[in-house]
Amino acid sequence: MAAYEYETHEYDVVVVGAGGAGLRATLGMAEQGLRTACVTKVFPTRSHTVAAQGGIAASLSNMGPDHWQWHMYDTVKGSDWLGDTDAMEYLAREAPKAVYELEHYGVPFSRTEEGKIYQRPFGGHTTEFGEGPPVQRTCAAADRTGHAILHTLYGQSLKNNAEFYIEFFAIDLIMSEDGQCQGVVCWKLDDGTMHVFNAKMVVLATGGYGRAYFSATSAHTCTGDGGGMVARAGLAMQDMEFVQFHPTGIYGSGCLITEGARGEGGYLTNSEGERFMERYAPHYKDLAPRDYVSRSMTMEIREGRGVGKDGDHIHLNLSHLPAEALHERLPGISESAKIFAGVDVTKEPIPVLPTVHYNMGGIPTNYWGEVLNPTKDDPTALVPGLMAVGEAGCASVHGANRLGSNSLIDLVVFGRAAAIRAGKVVDPEAPNPVLNQASVDKAFDRFDSIRNASGAVPTAELRLEMQRTMQADAAVFRTSKTMAEGVEKMTAIAAKMDDLHVTDRSLVWNSDLMESLELTNLMPNALATIVGAEARKESRGAHAHEDFTTRDDENWRVHTVSRIEGNKVDLSYRPVIVDPLSTEAEGGINLEKIAPKARTF
Ligand code: FUM
Repeated sequence: MAAYEYETHEYDVVVVGAGGAGLRATLGMAEQGLRTACVTKVFPTRSHTVAAQGGIAASLSNMGPDHWQWHMYDTVKGSDWLGDTDAMEYLAREAPKAVYELEHYGVPFSRTEEGKIYQRPFGGHTTEFGEGPPVQRTCAAADRTGHAILHTLYGQSLKNNAEFYIEFFAIDLIMSEDGQCQGVVCWKLDDGTMHVFNAKMVVLATGGYGRAYFSATSAHTCTGDGGGMVARAGLAMQDMEFVQFHPTGIYGSGCLITEGARGEGGYLTNSEGERFMERYAPHYKDLAPRDYVSRSMTMEIREGRGVGKDGDHIHLNLSHLPAEALHERLPGISESAKIFAGVDVTKEPIPVLPTVHYNMGGIPTNYWGEVLNPTKDDPTALVPGLMAVGEAGCASVHGANRLGSNSLIDLVVFGRAAAIRAGKVVDPEAPNPVLNQASVDKAFDRFDSIRNASGAVPTAELRLEMQRTMQADAAVFRTSKTMAEGVEKMTAIAAKMDDLHVTDRSLVWNSDLMESLELTNLMPNALATIVGAEARKESRGAHAHEDFTTRDDENWRVHTVSRIEGNKVDLSYRPVIVDPLSTEAEGGINLEKIAPKARTF
């Protein structure tokens, strides 16, 4: 057994991760007087939410008519009928409240002439249950909305006495013999000390795992740490095959150019200068949802109409927009285009390419953020003491494809929901759980074995192999052949984790060790993605299967549940929740409006 000294900390709630969801949960917990710690591997305002650009969806009706039911309809259709109806209703209904709360906390939203929160159009957001024109539903702080939200939530959390443990890396969950989460074991990066957090509720808000791919808009810190910990605890992941490609990553660097650019009037063109989205989505054109636009761009490139000397990307045009609009509404991406593509957006198009952006799948939860451990007999069984929110979780509100700007609203609605729920189920007067020492020791043993890993394969080499395989074999379009090859390659790559080589054995600012621990988290996420994708014999949302080109609701309107051990993935399925929270008589949506149908735009 590895002997590490450690300090123990006791809290009512420990939130792991300080992005939008983590901070909104932290703030909500602390506001209710729960003793709350937020443990984060980066400084809170450096969490990946800071990079969110275009905005946050809520039916405020500031720019024209809107309704929460239209937002719900768009989310259902966007999800390609894989989202859970209760969660999607909760999201759309609570969104306006959650945004006004942000405004009152101090988020500096852009304003209309009358001083209301400014809202812009985003892909897939419509009026009249998809029959009317696009709606302006996405509330924006220029094109730096995530930045504005993150700074505000951090300040508010401090004001409410939440305690922050910054640059603490979470190694593993502490689980009791009977499956209750009791806390988390952490490594403090700047001084090498070890810490055990004992909590009545642990909230995983660790973000996505975009870095399982070679080219992603995600920060290098997006390594699926929550999913890795959950998989090692023997718990399930859900719908991992659904990976979103954002249509407009800058060609080469992958840096995000917000969909808000098309919301403000930008459009895509091919090598013939054609606005090709008019052919693929005659009604909503460049404002069709992301899976649709990414596929259309890929088809243009495949058919020889890509731009550039290799014909391998597409142009995003903004130069027709007034310079003052670019300056006021899109200053961030104007700068990114200059830095990363050498382009002056007032004069030239931006070279763009669909780029991995978001994971619809994650740790299964209900709409309160409580983690599920689905079994055949009880598909909604709970894991006591554990919640997951934000991109780490899967509520499932985005189903097979997320609409742009439904991510920021997911973060705050479900971060807030987790806090509301914790306020009910966490008793501040109750004693903390007695920690299962075997689980604590197991976490230190694993840490020690990675720290002393003396195999033949350096972390960076294995990570690159994984990233290239995922990029090639779990791409925008997938075939039975590429996915079967991908499963075979990823199974072999994951097996090489036993032959890992870590060079630096120190404990202080050891980035070699941290990246190796991150790789142990990326790997199960990547493996579950390719295995889940290979098994799903239909096309739905972001999963575009070239050998099974249509959606098959009869056999596949189910959530994929994966359990990962080493390089093996065990798959099972659980039903999609089709019941809403409220009936039509209670003011809920007419279910006929959201009945499955062909998804056209
Ligand atoms: O395009 C964007 O600004 C990204 C927004 C989102 O992913 O929701």
